[in-house]
Amino acid sequence: MNVIETIDVSHQYPDGTLALNKINFKAPEGKIIALLGPNGAGKSTLFLHFNGILKPTSGTVLVDNTPMNYDKKGLLQVRQKVGLVFQNPDDQLFAPTVRDDIAFGPLNIDLEVDEVKRRVSEALEKVGMVGYENKPPHHLSGGQKKRVSIAGVLAMRPEIMVLDEPTSGLDPKGAFQIMKLLIELNREGMTIVIATHDVDIVPIYAHKVYAISKGEIIKEGSPQEIFDDAQTIRDANLRLPHIAHLFERLHKEDQLSFGKSYPLTVNEAKNRITEKIKK
Ligand SMILES: Nc1ncnc2c1ncn2[C@@H]1O[C@H](COP(=O)(O)OP(=O)(O)O)[C@@H](O)[C@H]1O
Ligand SMILES: [Mg+2]
Repeated sequence: MNVIETIDVSHQYPDGTLALNKINFKAPEGKIIALLGPNGAGKSTLFLHFNGILKPTSGTVLVDNTPMNYDKKGLLQVRQKVGLVFQNPDDQLFAPTVRDDIAFGPLNIDLEVDEVKRRVSEALEKVGMVGYENKPPHHLSGGQKKRVSIAGVLAMRPEIMVLDEPTSGLDPKGAFQIMKLLIELNREGMTIVIATHDVDIVPIYAHKVYAISKGEIIKEGSPQEIFDDAQTIRDANLRLPHIAHLFERLHKEDQLSFGKSYPLTVNEAKNRITEKIKK
């Protein structure tokens, strides 16, 4: 089943910008899906359609195979299923303390106080922020703010988590911690959709990739299928992962071939090289 699906979704902003042009996107249940595209491609615009913050100018958004209902009740329902984490935590965090921030969503759907407390502790535990309950969010580091934003969404127990550039602006360790958490949540069954332009980390986690450029999906497939088409990726102002670029140069400039398509990750590269040496 596809937990999110868009059929020919287009979006034109009031100033006339056509940000999305007939987007057909599917998020299969239980997978990690990456929406890969350069700045201005339309990633954030598409994500704002997934929980009804934006409405398509034309086309349909389906959640759990049901067309989105934009009345108050419909939106409330959809927002409990689809948790959206904004790119900038400052757009998301607003309460005076970390605890209040995470509790806001659950309190808003009228859960019992004990249940809210349970959810807040559970979410803090998940994101590794126990002990920060009383801190004002604006005193936290970028990575910590990001984890608190994720906790706020987790406390709503969504089926699907949609994250807009979850690792942008973080240092390597912060980015690694976020990706580790997302992979863990996915192993527990959550469908995860991530917008990014980080071509080096996409192959490490994504089951499926949509490449987007100028408001259009230009390619979809496994990470290998996406990056085997170097021309399309480069035309979209993206690049190959560094590892693949190295193997491309070895192949083209030194006639050193390690198999038909280039490895995309350090692990894959290591395996190809050791295989070749052992032969
Ligand atoms: N509120 C808005 N009004 C008009 N144009 C917008 C607005 N938000 C985004 N855009 C334009 O829509 C296009 C897609 O933007 P966006 O979805 O933010 O891309 P991305 O998230 O991939 O960087 C860009 O050309 C951007 O300038
Ligand atoms: Mg964006």
